[in-house]
Amino acid sequence: MAPLRIAIAGAGVIGRTHIRAALAEPACRLVGIADPDRASLAAAPSAEVPRFADLPAMLDATRPEAVILATPNVLHVPMALACIARSLPVLVEKPIADTVADAAALTDTAARAGVPVLVGHHRRHNPIIARAREIIAGGRLGRVLTATVLCNLLKPDVYFDVVWRRQAGGGPVLINLIHEIDLLRHLLGEIAEVQALTANLARGLAVEDSAAVLLRFAAGTLAAITLTDAAAAPWSWDLAAGENPAFRGAPAVSHMFAGTDASLSLPDLTLWQYPGARGWHAELAQETVAPAPADPYAAQLRHFIAVARGAAAPLVSAADATRTLATTLAVHRAAQDGVRACPD
Ligand SMILES: NC(=O)c1ccc[n+]([C@@H]2O[C@H](COP(=O)([O-])OP(=O)(O)OC[C@H]3O[C@@H](n4cnc5c(N)ncnc54)[C@H](O)[C@@H]3O)[C@@H](O)[C@H]2O)c1
Repeated sequence: MAPLRIAIAGAGVIGRTHIRAALAEPACRLVGIADPDRASLAAAPSAEVPRFADLPAMLDATRPEAVILATPNVLHVPMALACIARSLPVLVEKPIADTVADAAALTDTAARAGVPVLVGHHRRHNPIIARAREIIAGGRLGRVLTATVLCNLLKPDVYFDVVWRRQAGGGPVLINLIHEIDLLRHLLGEIAEVQALTANLARGLAVEDSAAVLLRFAAGTLAAITLTDAAAAPWSWDLAAGENPAFRGAPAVSHMFAGTDASLSLPDLTLWQYPGARGWHAELAQETVAPAPADPYAAQLRHFIAVARGAAAPLVSAADATRTLATTLAVHRAAQDGVRACPD
């Protein structure tokens, strides 16, 4: 089978990750890169791939079979709609949209057109997460009573040179927590209720730098998340899981799932259980069940190729990503209004 012709819009931080993955993947051919910013285009990893200043010009000239959108959030919906109008399957970065209404409109349009949309919640493609899901869904933990999530890291000062990152919506709730919400939904099911507090103690910017979030899942599980992008701390998936080679790793635990029969920590995939007598006087045995590490962005791309060829349904569909967005926005609402909130 001929390699799938893929085009990429947005050659910024994550766009370059997609470009590197596409250049390394024999099942696709990168036929074009679009970005209006010359510096971004110049920094793109391959000089041979044709470059364009905008998406329509690239689509007209290169006739791709599928498109990856790695552009700013506000462009996700209009650009995805432009691709769907040309019957082109899209991989759109997270969040799917800025609002639930826009996300729902995109979901409907894609469904009516019969064009698949995959949303870039890449962690679901990590074999660590696939294994964790298997363990939890297979009942090894018994009933999952609590989940504890630590997302504590430090974004360098230069990160905040970009204006939108200092303003409401540009903080760790919509940038980082959305990954945690998507992961928790993937592992534990729908979230019924959220409570949250946010603070901007460290930087004093308009946007939050820290949050404490409580979740109740439809299945009854309770979760607590601490989130900050201003702490000299190792406890986060981003630093511990080794997905991004640009981050200095730290061998820390970021997620803990406590069940009636056993408990599981991530990303080390350690299972804790009582081999014999149960209770706090007995010794807990630990077993590590980690799979071989693999790049989730490369796996996501291979999945997208299968989706575009009609050989697989999206692992993160537009409807699914809309639920993740609705829940993340409910966290913001709960923090702002000081109330319990339910996803729309
Ligand atoms: N899944 C992940 O791990 C992950 C990580 C980081 C960012 N993201 C998401 O990816 C998106 C991009 O984030 P980023 O950090 O790469 O941002 P960025 O600012 O580094 O890159 C965005 C790029 O899009 C370009 N762009 C702007 N308008 C465009 C247009 N009309 N056509 C084509 N390109 C255009 C910009 O010039 C820039 O080069 C965001 O939605 C973000 O939430 C996802």
